Amino acid sequence: MNADAQKRAAAARAVEFVRPGMKLGLGTGSTAKHFVDLVGERVRAGLDIVAVPTSEATRAQAEACGIRLTTLDETPALDLTVDGADEIDPHLSLIKGGGGALLREKIVAAASDRMIVISDPSKLVPTLGRFPLPVEVTPFGFTATLRAVEKAIAAIQLAGPLSLRLGKDGHPFVTDGGHWIIDAALERIDDPKAMAHALSGIPGVMEHGLFVGLAQTAIIGGPDGIKIIERP
Ligand code: 5RP
Repeated sequence: MNADAQKRAAAARAVEFVRPGMKLGLGTGSTAKHFVDLVGERVRAGLDIVAVPTSEATRAQAEACGIRLTTLDETPALDLTVDGADEIDPHLSLIKGGGGALLREKIVAAASDRMIVISDPSKLVPTLGRFPLPVEVTPFGFTATLRAVEKAIAAIQLAGPLSLRLGKDGHPFVTDGGHWIIDAALERIDDPKAMAHALSGIPGVMEHGLFVGLAQTAIIGGPDGIKIIERP
């Protein structure tokens, strides 16, 4: 079973948590894409749900699948969000934002009674931080914000190199919200809560990719089947 098949198996298990009438959050990325696809199949077979997408890419996919969409303005409280992650630690703290959708992903997860994270085993780590931490910032005052991010990280731990994420065209990658992303190579984040708190306090930082206390359940598709991990 390759990684993609493992992601699909995790997504298929997550679909079993979806009940008729639910209000869903739909994540972003190659793993969440499988979930959207499978929910679409169920919808076409008669399942009645409504969903909020976490990115324009997921919106386009969900529309193509025939999933009825809503917004957090019309539907401010969701039952369940299912999303992927870049890293998952044993407390189910996550790094997200590899696909650049972290701001909407976090708003949608926070508006949900439950967040389930789905992945293959490669995302499980003992300590977060090997995956560079995405920090979404406003383009206005970028260099000042970059310096403030550097300082905030250095006050907590050794700061690795910070880089502005670029698109394929060599220009700054622009998120669905019109922001830029700093990728912070930290190697390890010993205190994700402290780091999250420090980054959230910087003017110009719209959001960071540390999801602490949001995911209750992880569904991991592996070579030996599905493993379900609940937050300790
Ligand atoms: C997008 C994300 C994704 O969930 C994360 O990057 C994982 O993606 P994939 O399922 O493709 O590995 O946070 O912003």
